[in-house]
Amino acid sequence: MDRDEAAQELDRLRREIEHHNYLYYVKDAPEISDAEFDRLFRRLIEIEEAFPDLVTPDSPSQRVGAPPADEFRPVPHRVPMLSLQNAMDEGEMRDFEARLARFLGRDDPLDYVVEPKFDGLSAELVYENGVLVTGATRGDGFTGEDVTANLRTVRTIPLRLRDDRRPVPRLVEVRGEVVIPVARFEELNREREARGETPFANPRNAAAGSVRQLDPTITAGRPLEFYAYAIGASEGFEVEGQWDLLQALRDYGFKVTDLARRVRGMDDVIGEYQRLLGLRDELPFEVDGTVVKVDRAALQRELGEVSRSPRWAIACKFPPRREVTRIERILVQVGRTGVLTPVAVLAPVRVGGVTVRRATLHNEDEVARKGVMEGDFVFVQRAGDVIPEVVEVLADRRDGSERPFVMPDRCPSCGGPVVREEGEAARRCVSSSCPAQRKERITHFASRRAMDIEHLGDKLTDQLVEQGLVRDVADLYRLRFEQVVVLDRMAEKSAQNLLDAIEKSKSRPLAAVLFALGIRQVGEALARDLASHFGGIEALMDAREEDLLKVEGVGPVVARAIRDFFDNPANRDVIRRLREAGVRMEHTAPRDEADPRFAGKTFVFTGTLRTMTREHAQALVLARGGKAASSVSRKSDYVVAGADAGSKLAKARDLGVAVLTEDEFLALCGVGTGEEVP
Ligand code: IVH
Repeated sequence: MDRDEAAQELDRLRREIEHHNYLYYVKDAPEISDAEFDRLFRRLIEIEEAFPDLVTPDSPSQRVGAPPADEFRPVPHRVPMLSLQNAMDEGEMRDFEARLARFLGRDDPLDYVVEPKFDGLSAELVYENGVLVTGATRGDGFTGEDVTANLRTVRTIPLRLRDDRRPVPRLVEVRGEVVIPVARFEELNREREARGETPFANPRNAAAGSVRQLDPTITAGRPLEFYAYAIGASEGFEVEGQWDLLQALRDYGFKVTDLARRVRGMDDVIGEYQRLLGLRDELPFEVDGTVVKVDRAALQRELGEVSRSPRWAIACKFPPRREVTRIERILVQVGRTGVLTPVAVLAPVRVGGVTVRRATLHNEDEVARKGVMEGDFVFVQRAGDVIPEVVEVLADRRDGSERPFVMPDRCPSCGGPVVREEGEAARRCVSSSCPAQRKERITHFASRRAMDIEHLGDKLTDQLVEQGLVRDVADLYRLRFEQVVVLDRMAEKSAQNLLDAIEKSKSRPLAAVLFALGIRQVGEALARDLASHFGGIEALMDAREEDLLKVEGVGPVVARAIRDFFDNPANRDVIRRLREAGVRMEHTAPRDEADPRFAGKTFVFTGTLRTMTREHAQALVLARGGKAASSVSRKSDYVVAGADAGSKLAKARDLGVAVLTEDEFLALCGVGTGEEVP
């Protein structure tokens, strides 16, 4: 076979394979047997191996097998991914209609498309000339994370748009939701528990966790589906409205829900909402409401957007689901800061397809307020992302066998004293050697958004702490193969995997390290700001409260908490040992992307930016290896001036610092404004 013949056959095979893939995953109506499919696939691989230069990114062979990434590159969205305003009841849906009528100056009934509101992770897929080039998460709406390799593994995402029903546009950004069907979610959790890993709280977290895996082979093993429902930027693509758009997306090969309906007027919208609400427990995936969209594109344009939400669409939330079950007993958990939380152990109950076994009771005041006793029948509620909670006691189902609950005055883990500080609802174990706190601190340290140490599940952490192998997070870096391999459920391979994951965590960015340390009041976002502001842990450790207050988002309480943490000699000792172990303690912009026009350069933003928030602009700079500062000095390299820029702009001019307009800045970043350039 010569090269031309190979190219031709590959083209034919790719189309054929993707077509059968489409029939199987999107249409649910396969036309060939698995064996026949495998034969086609093997033939494809055979030819690609013989002609490696003919492998293209849209080949079905490229869905899996991409190497693990170090971190996710930021991807600015050409058009921001907006969020939706919410309507909580019928009244608010009618208010929406009234607002539309007022804004448009007409009150004849409009056409709407009513769709399920998927409870998953929203994502954007960029197609250039029909080929998938980028897949990104929503992120903050302006900048997402590049998860292309992961999204490629999702079989309901076309690698190339079908071109047999409509012409393929030059550019289209397809938006939709990545979900895990509820049945598959429960299966996934059973497998995780069998392996001693922490189960996911709900299908949405499972979907998000699967998409944000650095190793795409893990994502490939997760039962993800993508439902398309919107577009971002496009060129050479026109539709009449939302209904037409859904059809176009179907034509291009996407999975689009068949639960969407087009109706006229708010009465019928509400009827549709009720219909979907009635169906909710039978749907294969989690739906937490409906999204109502004005159908006509021309009206959508006229309506525009307000405060980062389109005026032409609204999310109508379903009420949280609740079921009745019995509290078998109440146990008390100790968190990583020593806070004691009462947790109800329930007779397992399915709440909207997900089995709930535990529910939080928050704190002792809540237990008292609700009058909860062990043995009570209660309503348990689960709403979207939050932990299931006990909402109400069914007092008339009591038979006298119920037992009142009292909060212990000793820590259930270490037996140490428990204090309740003035003005706080929580009791706290104040022992520094409490094993429960140790475990929680380690679990937090290892968690995905912190040091991302895979293979370190709850059961393993328990053993490490109970056997005295790990007292604090720095001890993780001293673990030896012989110590780990002898633990329960461990074998040579799993022990090595754990040690490799610990080793890999040493190169996590400083922001992740700061978050991982579990400093009170310091969440992920603040950890990022602290890392870029101080540039290294030394400077942060030595920062005075007044220095800390200069960081945006840091007030007196946060500054105090940070100081308290670093004033504690035990914490300083942990940091010293982490550094000695080789954990990264300096802030560096992601290596590969340092852009010479940005590397080491300091940008200051002033005035109001038109296309993005200041945080977003700063993120663009950081992502390119630059630094962002809040005040202008001789050391500043650029001042980016938005509308109504004042004293900083004047100072920049005085000092002769280069001044950029917002558009110039965007051009420097290589980001379009998403607006037509005249
Ligand atoms: S349309 C401009 N349609 O809801 C409108 N969003 O709060 C953009 N979502 O981040 C969204 N199902 O993740 C749309 N059928 C649906 C949806 C949907 C779920 C999510 C989406 C978005 C959030 C908005």
